Amino acid sequence: MIVLDGKKIAQEIKKEISEEVKTLIAQGKPAPHLVAILVGNDGASETYVGHKEKDCKEVGFRSTVLRFSDSVSQEELLLEINKLNTDSDVTGLIVQLPLPAHISEEKIIESINPDKDVDGFHPVNVGRMVTGLPTFVSATPDGIIELLKKYSIETSGKNCVVLGRSNIVGRPMANLLSQKAYPGDCTVTVCHSRTRNIKEICAQADIIIAALGSPEFVTADMVKEGAVVIDVGITRVKADNKNGFRLTGDVKFDEVSVKTSYITPVPGGVGPMTRVALLKNTLKAAKLSKSQF
Ligand code: GUN
Repeated sequence: MIVLDGKKIAQEIKKEISEEVKTLIAQGKPAPHLVAILVGNDGASETYVGHKEKDCKEVGFRSTVLRFSDSVSQEELLLEINKLNTDSDVTGLIVQLPLPAHISEEKIIESINPDKDVDGFHPVNVGRMVTGLPTFVSATPDGIIELLKKYSIETSGKNCVVLGRSNIVGRPMANLLSQKAYPGDCTVTVCHSRTRNIKEICAQADIIIAALGSPEFVTADMVKEGAVVIDVGITRVKADNKNGFRLTGDVKFDEVSVKTSYITPVPGGVGPMTRVALLKNTLKAAKLSKSQF
């Protein structure tokens, strides 16, 4: 069994990105600039945006976080996005989700300039991804694809089960793995809360991508000998330690790992790959930007 070291691979990719940033700057071009809009005080969102700022700094990008109270109106946010869409100093623009209930996430995402949509959430970019065109792929699926590639994991003709059908992870993941490409060429089954016989379906899988957000959902009896298991879940569960919690994936690691050929740990697997995928997209946006260069 090989534990996929997302932390190490992400570090290597960050090094490559910083080298590219140095080259851009040496050519007299500006450092890529990521702008994140953060609404309200959701603890997890604060943490994620904090990570994004730290990652940008590490590779030499500029970053700005624009904070709004959770009483901000949809119109006010749309106005701000409109300004940023045409601001030539802004390379990538993300709006951290979730948003308060009175704001339509759909409308907000649709208002972002697809050329700056480094989250890959805009329907134009989702459509380009589905049809196999070059685009910004959302960060978690992109990070998983990169990890499979780095470890040269065989995917062609394999039965892949994706647990979860979110727009951010499950759906794009299933789509990418079914494409005529490497990594890809899989026969993909998407399971969700209404799926019957989920255990039996998983037990047939050569590759399982667990993205349910349900701690330790995948148990040893659901996993075939030699399967590849990718764990996207990361949930805080109460623990008897100094923090009072520990981070748990969607997979019961101790009992599942011994049956697998490859498995991702939590933390240190998919998480760092997701973070670096956003940086890759931002660099790509900078290279494609006509206004900046
Ligand atoms: N909320 C959870 N994950 C994400 C993400 O990748 N991007 C944004 N904008 N919000 C999120």
